[in-house]
Amino acid sequence: MTSMHETGPESQPLGEWTTVLADVDSSGVAVVTLNRPEKRNAMNPRLNEEMADVLDAVESDERARVLVLTGAGDAFSAGMDLKEYFREVDAAGPVARVRSRRTSNEWQYRRLMFFPKPTVAMVNGWCFGGAFTPLVACDLAIAAEDAVFGLSEVNWGIPPGSVVSRALAETIPARDALFYIMTGTTFTGTEAAAMRLVNEAVPRERLRERTHDLAVRLAGMNPVVLDAAKTGFKRARSMDWEVAEEYLYAKLDQSIANDPEHGRDEGMRQFLDDKSFRPGLGAYRRG
Ligand code: COA
Repeated sequence: MTSMHETGPESQPLGEWTTVLADVDSSGVAVVTLNRPEKRNAMNPRLNEEMADVLDAVESDERARVLVLTGAGDAFSAGMDLKEYFREVDAAGPVARVRSRRTSNEWQYRRLMFFPKPTVAMVNGWCFGGAFTPLVACDLAIAAEDAVFGLSEVNWGIPPGSVVSRALAETIPARDALFYIMTGTTFTGTEAAAMRLVNEAVPRERLRERTHDLAVRLAGMNPVVLDAAKTGFKRARSMDWEVAEEYLYAKLDQSIANDPEHGRDEGMRQFLDDKSFRPGLGAYRRG
Protein backbone atom coordinates (compact mmCIF):
# COMPACT_ATOMS: atom_id res chain seq x y z
CA MET A 1 0.00 0.00 0.00
CA THR A 2 1.28 3.47 -0.89
CA SER A 3 -0.10 5.92 1.60
CA MET A 4 1.61 9.19 2.44
CA HIS A 5 0.11 8.91 5.89
CA GLU A 6 3.00 6.59 6.63
CA THR A 7 5.58 9.36 6.12
CA GLY A 8 4.63 11.69 8.92
CA PRO A 9 4.54 10.34 12.44
CA GLU A 10 3.82 13.93 13.42
CA SER A 11 0.80 14.18 11.07
CA GLN A 12 -2.34 15.74 12.52
CA PRO A 13 -5.84 14.96 11.26
CA LEU A 14 -7.69 17.85 9.62
CA GLY A 15 -11.08 16.43 10.51
CA GLU A 16 -13.08 13.24 10.44
CA TRP A 17 -14.86 11.85 7.43
CA THR A 18 -16.13 8.41 6.54
CA THR A 19 -14.84 8.19 2.95
CA VAL A 20 -11.78 10.46 3.06
CA LEU A 21 -8.71 10.77 5.27
CA ALA A 22 -7.00 14.15 5.51
CA ASP A 23 -4.05 15.15 7.63
CA VAL A 24 -1.23 17.62 7.61
CA ASP A 25 2.40 17.08 8.58
CA SER A 26 4.92 19.45 10.09
CA SER A 27 6.28 20.43 6.67
CA GLY A 28 2.89 21.86 5.65
CA VAL A 29 1.90 18.95 3.39
CA ALA A 30 -1.78 18.02 3.63
CA VAL A 31 -2.48 14.54 2.31
CA VAL A 32 -6.05 13.91 1.22
CA THR A 33 -6.70 10.20 0.71
CA LEU A 34 -9.84 8.91 -1.00
CA ASN A 35 -10.61 6.14 1.41
CA ARG A 36 -12.91 3.43 0.08
CA PRO A 37 -10.21 0.89 -0.73
CA GLU A 38 -12.69 -2.01 -0.70
CA LYS A 39 -14.45 -0.25 -3.61
CA ARG A 40 -11.17 0.88 -5.22
CA ASN A 41 -11.99 4.44 -4.03
CA ALA A 42 -14.90 4.75 -6.45
CA MET A 43 -16.50 8.14 -5.92
CA ASN A 44 -20.01 7.88 -4.48
CA PRO A 45 -22.31 10.79 -3.51
CA ARG A 46 -21.13 10.62 0.09
CA LEU A 47 -17.49 11.00 -0.93
CA ASN A 48 -18.35 13.87 -3.26
CA GLU A 49 -20.15 15.68 -0.44
CA GLU A 50 -17.36 15.03 2.01
CA MET A 51 -14.68 16.20 -0.39
CA ALA A 52 -16.22 19.69 -0.52
CA ASP A 53 -15.86 19.80 3.24
CA VAL A 54 -12.32 18.39 3.13
CA LEU A 55 -11.26 21.06 0.63
CA ASP A 56 -12.71 23.71 2.96
CA ALA A 57 -10.68 22.25 5.82
CA VAL A 58 -7.41 22.21 3.84
CA GLU A 59 -8.05 25.68 2.46
CA SER A 60 -8.74 27.26 5.82
CA ASP A 61 -6.11 25.49 7.93
CA GLU A 62 -2.96 27.58 8.06
CA ARG A 63 -0.78 24.55 8.76
CA ALA A 64 -1.65 23.17 5.30
CA ARG A 65 0.42 24.80 2.56
CA VAL A 66 0.18 22.13 -0.15
CA LEU A 67 -2.48 19.54 -0.94
CA VAL A 68 -1.56 16.03 -2.11
CA LEU A 69 -4.46 13.95 -3.45
CA THR A 70 -4.14 10.18 -3.45
CA GLY A 71 -6.06 6.97 -2.82
CA ALA A 72 -6.00 4.28 -0.15
CA GLY A 73 -4.87 0.77 -1.01
CA ASP A 74 -4.09 -0.22 -4.58
CA ALA A 75 -6.26 2.40 -6.31
CA PHE A 76 -6.10 6.14 -6.90
CA SER A 77 -9.76 5.95 -7.83
CA ALA A 78 -11.83 3.59 -9.99
CA GLY A 79 -13.91 6.59 -11.11
CA MET A 80 -17.54 7.25 -10.39
CA ASP A 81 -19.34 4.61 -8.35
CA LEU A 82 -21.47 2.65 -10.81
CA LYS A 83 -23.85 1.46 -8.13
CA GLU A 84 -24.25 4.50 -5.88
CA TYR A 85 -23.53 7.38 -8.28
CA PHE A 86 -25.27 5.97 -11.36
CA ARG A 87 -27.78 3.23 -10.55
CA GLU A 88 -29.06 4.50 -7.22
CA VAL A 89 -29.14 8.16 -8.26
CA ASP A 90 -30.95 7.25 -11.49
CA ALA A 91 -33.55 5.45 -9.40
CA ALA A 92 -33.96 8.52 -7.18
CA GLY A 93 -35.03 10.64 -10.17
CA PRO A 94 -33.92 13.64 -12.21
CA VAL A 95 -33.67 16.12 -9.35
CA ALA A 96 -31.34 13.80 -7.46
CA ARG A 97 -29.30 13.36 -10.60
CA VAL A 98 -28.82 17.10 -11.17
CA ARG A 99 -27.86 17.56 -7.57
CA SER A 100 -25.48 14.63 -7.56
CA ARG A 101 -23.72 15.85 -10.70
CA ARG A 102 -23.35 19.32 -9.26
CA THR A 103 -21.89 18.03 -5.98
CA SER A 104 -19.43 15.88 -7.87
CA ASN A 105 -18.24 18.63 -10.21
CA GLU A 106 -18.09 21.12 -7.37
CA TRP A 107 -14.97 19.56 -5.85
CA GLN A 108 -13.61 17.53 -8.77
CA TYR A 109 -12.86 20.54 -10.91
CA ARG A 110 -14.44 23.83 -9.82
CA ARG A 111 -12.85 23.90 -6.39
CA LEU A 112 -9.77 21.82 -7.12
CA MET A 113 -8.78 23.48 -10.40
CA PHE A 114 -8.46 26.88 -8.73
CA PHE A 115 -7.60 25.75 -5.24
CA PRO A 116 -5.63 28.58 -3.63
CA LYS A 117 -2.83 26.28 -2.48
CA PRO A 118 -0.62 24.13 -4.73
CA THR A 119 -2.09 20.70 -5.49
CA VAL A 120 -0.29 17.49 -6.48
CA ALA A 121 -2.01 14.25 -7.50
CA MET A 122 -0.13 11.15 -6.38
CA VAL A 123 -1.46 8.35 -8.58
CA ASN A 124 -0.74 5.20 -6.64
CA GLY A 125 -2.81 2.71 -8.67
CA TRP A 126 -6.03 2.23 -10.65
CA CYS A 127 -7.25 5.48 -12.22
CA PHE A 128 -10.41 5.23 -14.31
CA GLY A 129 -13.10 7.38 -15.90
CA GLY A 130 -14.29 10.13 -13.57
CA ALA A 131 -10.97 10.03 -11.68
CA PHE A 132 -9.36 11.87 -14.59
CA THR A 133 -11.20 15.05 -13.60
CA PRO A 134 -9.58 15.59 -10.18
CA LEU A 135 -6.32 14.25 -11.60
CA VAL A 136 -6.22 16.95 -14.27
CA ALA A 137 -7.58 19.62 -11.93
CA CYS A 138 -4.52 19.18 -9.70
CA ASP A 139 -1.66 21.47 -10.69
CA LEU A 140 0.92 18.69 -10.87
CA ALA A 141 0.80 14.90 -10.89
CA ILE A 142 3.19 12.06 -10.19
CA ALA A 143 2.28 8.44 -10.89
CA ALA A 144 3.71 5.07 -10.04
CA GLU A 145 5.18 3.62 -13.24
CA ASP A 146 2.88 0.61 -12.95
CA ALA A 147 -0.29 2.56 -12.10
CA VAL A 148 -3.06 1.64 -14.54
CA PHE A 149 -5.19 4.30 -16.23
CA GLY A 150 -8.21 3.87 -18.46
CA LEU A 151 -11.13 5.66 -20.07
CA SER A 152 -13.25 2.60 -19.42
CA GLU A 153 -16.61 4.23 -20.08
CA VAL A 154 -17.06 2.72 -23.57
CA ASN A 155 -16.35 -0.68 -22.05
CA TRP A 156 -19.56 -0.49 -20.06
CA GLY A 157 -21.67 1.36 -22.56
CA ILE A 158 -21.37 5.11 -22.12
CA PRO A 159 -19.19 7.88 -23.53
CA PRO A 160 -17.03 9.64 -20.93
CA GLY A 161 -19.37 11.80 -18.86
CA SER A 162 -19.11 15.09 -17.05
CA VAL A 163 -15.93 17.00 -17.99
CA VAL A 164 -13.64 13.98 -18.39
CA SER A 165 -13.13 14.57 -22.13
CA ARG A 166 -12.53 18.26 -21.50
CA ALA A 167 -9.91 17.36 -18.90
CA LEU A 168 -8.17 15.08 -21.39
CA ALA A 169 -8.18 17.81 -24.04
CA GLU A 170 -6.48 20.06 -21.49
CA THR A 171 -3.57 17.69 -21.07
CA ILE A 172 -2.92 15.07 -23.76
CA PRO A 173 -2.73 15.14 -27.56
CA ALA A 174 -5.96 14.45 -29.47
CA ARG A 175 -4.66 11.27 -31.09
CA ASP A 176 -3.88 9.71 -27.73
CA ALA A 177 -7.10 11.00 -26.16
CA LEU A 178 -9.30 9.63 -28.94
CA PHE A 179 -7.48 6.30 -28.98
CA TYR A 180 -8.03 5.73 -25.28
CA ILE A 181 -11.55 7.23 -25.23
CA MET A 182 -12.67 5.11 -28.18
CA THR A 183 -11.00 1.80 -27.34
CA GLY A 184 -11.11 1.76 -23.54
CA THR A 185 -7.58 0.32 -23.60
CA THR A 186 -5.57 0.78 -20.40
CA PHE A 187 -2.21 2.53 -20.16
CA THR A 188 0.47 2.70 -17.50
CA GLY A 189 1.95 5.47 -15.40
CA THR A 190 5.01 5.44 -17.65
CA GLU A 191 2.79 5.96 -20.70
CA ALA A 192 0.83 8.66 -18.86
CA ALA A 193 4.08 10.55 -18.27
CA ALA A 194 5.08 10.21 -21.94
CA MET A 195 1.71 11.76 -22.90
CA ARG A 196 2.16 14.48 -20.25
CA LEU A 197 -1.00 13.47 -18.40
CA VAL A 198 1.28 13.39 -15.36
CA ASN A 199 4.57 15.21 -14.81
CA GLU A 200 6.52 12.06 -14.16
CA ALA A 201 6.28 8.40 -13.34
CA VAL A 202 8.53 6.84 -10.73
CA PRO A 203 9.00 3.31 -9.43
CA ARG A 204 6.24 2.51 -6.95
CA GLU A 205 8.63 2.34 -4.00
CA ARG A 206 9.77 5.93 -4.68
CA LEU A 207 6.33 7.45 -5.28
CA ARG A 208 5.67 8.62 -1.77
CA GLU A 209 9.11 10.12 -1.19
CA ARG A 210 9.25 11.83 -4.59
CA THR A 211 5.79 13.36 -4.14
CA HIS A 212 6.58 14.46 -0.62
CA ASP A 213 9.84 16.11 -1.74
CA LEU A 214 8.00 18.07 -4.42
CA ALA A 215 5.24 19.04 -1.99
CA VAL A 216 7.74 20.21 0.63
CA ARG A 217 9.50 22.32 -1.97
CA LEU A 218 6.20 23.99 -2.90
CA ALA A 219 5.34 24.40 0.78
CA GLY A 220 8.51 26.45 1.25
CA MET A 221 7.66 28.96 -1.47
CA ASN A 222 5.78 32.25 -1.25
CA PRO A 223 2.10 31.13 -1.19
CA VAL A 224 0.60 34.38 -2.52
CA VAL A 225 2.94 34.37 -5.51
CA LEU A 226 2.37 30.66 -6.20
CA ASP A 227 -1.41 31.10 -6.16
CA ALA A 228 -1.22 34.08 -8.54
CA ALA A 229 1.21 32.21 -10.81
CA LYS A 230 -0.85 29.04 -11.18
CA THR A 231 -4.22 30.78 -11.36
CA GLY A 232 -2.85 33.22 -13.94
CA PHE A 233 -1.72 30.36 -16.16
CA LYS A 234 -4.90 28.32 -15.81
CA ARG A 235 -7.26 31.23 -16.44
CA ALA A 236 -5.28 32.99 -19.17
CA ARG A 237 -4.89 29.99 -21.45
CA SER A 238 -8.47 30.30 -22.69
CA MET A 239 -8.31 34.12 -23.13
CA ASP A 240 -7.28 36.04 -26.19
CA TRP A 241 -3.95 37.84 -25.89
CA GLU A 242 -5.37 41.32 -25.28
CA VAL A 243 -7.62 40.13 -22.46
CA ALA A 244 -4.84 37.93 -21.09
CA GLU A 245 -2.50 40.92 -20.95
CA GLU A 246 -5.03 42.94 -18.95
CA TYR A 247 -5.83 40.01 -16.68
CA LEU A 248 -2.25 38.94 -16.04
CA TYR A 249 -1.09 42.46 -15.22
CA ALA A 250 -4.04 42.79 -12.84
CA LYS A 251 -3.08 39.44 -11.31
CA LEU A 252 0.51 40.57 -10.93
CA ASP A 253 -0.51 43.81 -9.25
CA GLN A 254 -2.93 41.88 -7.02
CA SER A 255 -0.16 39.52 -6.01
CA ILE A 256 2.19 42.38 -5.12
CA ALA A 257 -0.55 44.17 -3.17
CA ASN A 258 -1.58 41.03 -1.25
CA ASP A 259 1.87 39.67 -0.46
CA PRO A 260 2.52 40.25 3.25
CA GLU A 261 6.21 39.34 2.90
CA HIS A 262 6.79 41.72 -0.02
CA GLY A 263 8.61 39.00 -1.93
CA ARG A 264 9.29 41.16 -4.99
CA ASP A 265 11.10 43.85 -3.01
CA GLU A 266 12.94 41.25 -0.96
CA GLY A 267 13.98 39.28 -4.04
CA MET A 268 15.31 42.39 -5.74
CA ARG A 269 17.11 43.47 -2.57
CA GLN A 270 18.83 40.11 -2.11
CA PHE A 271 19.91 40.02 -5.77
CA LEU A 272 20.77 43.66 -6.51
CA ASP A 273 22.01 44.91 -3.12
CA ASP A 274 23.13 41.89 -1.06
CA LYS A 275 24.15 39.85 -4.10
CA SER A 276 23.27 36.83 -1.99
CA PHE A 277 21.42 34.79 -4.65
CA ARG A 278 20.72 34.53 -8.37
CA PRO A 279 16.99 34.48 -9.28
CA GLY A 280 17.77 32.47 -12.41
CA LEU A 281 19.10 29.64 -10.29
CA GLY A 282 16.86 29.47 -7.23
CA ALA A 283 14.40 31.25 -4.95
CA TYR A 284 15.13 34.17 -2.62
CA ARG A 285 15.59 33.44 1.08
CA ARG A 286 12.32 33.83 2.97
CA GLY A 287 11.97 35.34 6.46
N1 COA B 1 -18.10 1.63 -9.09
C1 COA B 1 -18.65 0.85 -8.16
N2 COA B 1 -17.99 -0.19 -7.58
C2 COA B 1 -16.72 -0.39 -7.95
C3 COA B 1 -16.08 0.40 -8.90
C4 COA B 1 -16.82 1.47 -9.47
N3 COA B 1 -16.30 2.32 -10.37
N4 COA B 1 -14.82 -0.05 -9.08
C5 COA B 1 -14.69 -1.10 -8.24
N5 COA B 1 -15.84 -1.30 -7.56
C6 COA B 1 -16.13 -2.33 -6.55
C7 COA B 1 -16.45 -3.68 -7.17
O1 COA B 1 -17.80 -3.75 -7.57
C8 COA B 1 -16.11 -4.60 -6.03
O2 COA B 1 -17.17 -4.55 -5.12
P1 COA B 1 -17.63 -5.90 -4.29
O3 COA B 1 -16.40 -6.29 -3.50
O4 COA B 1 -18.77 -5.44 -3.44
O5 COA B 1 -17.98 -6.91 -5.34
C9 COA B 1 -14.91 -3.93 -5.39
O6 COA B 1 -14.97 -2.55 -5.77
C10 COA B 1 -13.59 -4.48 -5.86
O7 COA B 1 -13.60 -4.44 -7.27
P2 COA B 1 -12.91 -5.59 -8.14
O8 COA B 1 -13.37 -5.40 -9.53
O9 COA B 1 -13.12 -6.93 -7.52
O10 COA B 1 -11.35 -5.18 -7.94
P3 COA B 1 -10.10 -5.50 -8.87
O11 COA B 1 -8.92 -5.04 -8.08
O12 COA B 1 -10.14 -6.90 -9.35
O13 COA B 1 -10.27 -4.55 -10.17
C11 COA B 1 -10.75 -2.44 -11.24
C12 COA B 1 -10.12 -3.17 -10.02
C13 COA B 1 -10.62 -0.95 -10.94
C14 COA B 1 -9.99 -2.80 -12.53
C15 COA B 1 -12.23 -2.87 -11.40
O14 COA B 1 -12.87 -2.79 -10.13
C16 COA B 1 -13.01 -2.02 -12.38
O15 COA B 1 -12.93 -2.26 -13.57
N6 COA B 1 -13.77 -1.02 -11.87
C17 COA B 1 -14.57 -0.14 -12.71
C18 COA B 1 -13.70 0.91 -13.34
C19 COA B 1 -14.52 1.84 -14.22
O16 COA B 1 -14.97 1.47 -15.29
N7 COA B 1 -14.65 3.07 -13.78
C20 COA B 1 -15.27 4.10 -14.58
C21 COA B 1 -16.42 4.65 -13.91
S1 COA B 1 -16.91 6.12 -14.79
